[in-house]
Amino acid sequence: MRKKIVAGNWKMNKEFQDAEDLMFEIVDELTEKGSGDTEIIICPPAVYLEMSSDIAAENGFMVGAQNLSQFDSGAYTGEISASMLHSMGITHSILGHSERRTYFGETDKVIADKVDQALKHGMTPIYCCGEVLAERQAERHFDVVRNQVSEALFHLGKEAVSQCIIAYEPVWAIGTGVTASSAQAQEMHAFIRSLLTEKYGMEVSEEISILYGGSCNAKNAAELFANKDVDGGLIGGAALKAADFVAIVNSFQ
Ligand code: PGA
Repeated sequence: MRKKIVAGNWKMNKEFQDAEDLMFEIVDELTEKGSGDTEIIICPPAVYLEMSSDIAAENGFMVGAQNLSQFDSGAYTGEISASMLHSMGITHSILGHSERRTYFGETDKVIADKVDQALKHGMTPIYCCGEVLAERQAERHFDVVRNQVSEALFHLGKEAVSQCIIAYEPVWAIGTGVTASSAQAQEMHAFIRSLLTEKYGMEVSEEISILYGGSCNAKNAAELFANKDVDGGLIGGAALKAADFVAIVNSFQ
């Protein structure tokens, strides 16, 4: 059974006390409103992972990193490895987010190595893909996403790819307040699933959760999540407010 998942990407926001407060506010909201059968993964900045995972473990949700190193271990100053994260109880990592591609020069090859590191150390990659506005305007969005998905994931075998979560995040929708329409999201999610079916067969493609990200909020989540191939969301801005985030968690029909 495909899982319903809502993940929060806090990006580089909040100082320690505010981050801890937000964690506890989320716990309070979840206690009050519940979360049905939706899996929740919160991805705070790396320095707050330990604090967050302690709270998450006691309250039935999971914590993910926003990034990890493509290298195993050793002389890579400033990096954090998948094995370190795993040893701290961190189960997931966002990988290939468009901000990492744009500002930190991550290529599909580097991202593919990060996916391998995550899987090697028992973590679940949340692999992000999506086109920029000019690519959509030039009607190249399907080609762009096909390339991103195939270059980062298609070296994997069936079993490994089944461990992955995919997030479709059109770059023009991230942090802009312009959300993809429900039809645009469904169209691209169905396309991604068809790529997975072509490569791995239906049994595998039907098991992989594909999340939508890009200005998803408490108002539009229900319409987006009602689509047959939209299995939840990767939430940025709206994940920084506990009530909004938990409302999104409860937006499945
Ligand atoms: P947003 O960010 O919800 O603020 O658009 C989503 C993301 O970047 O993952």
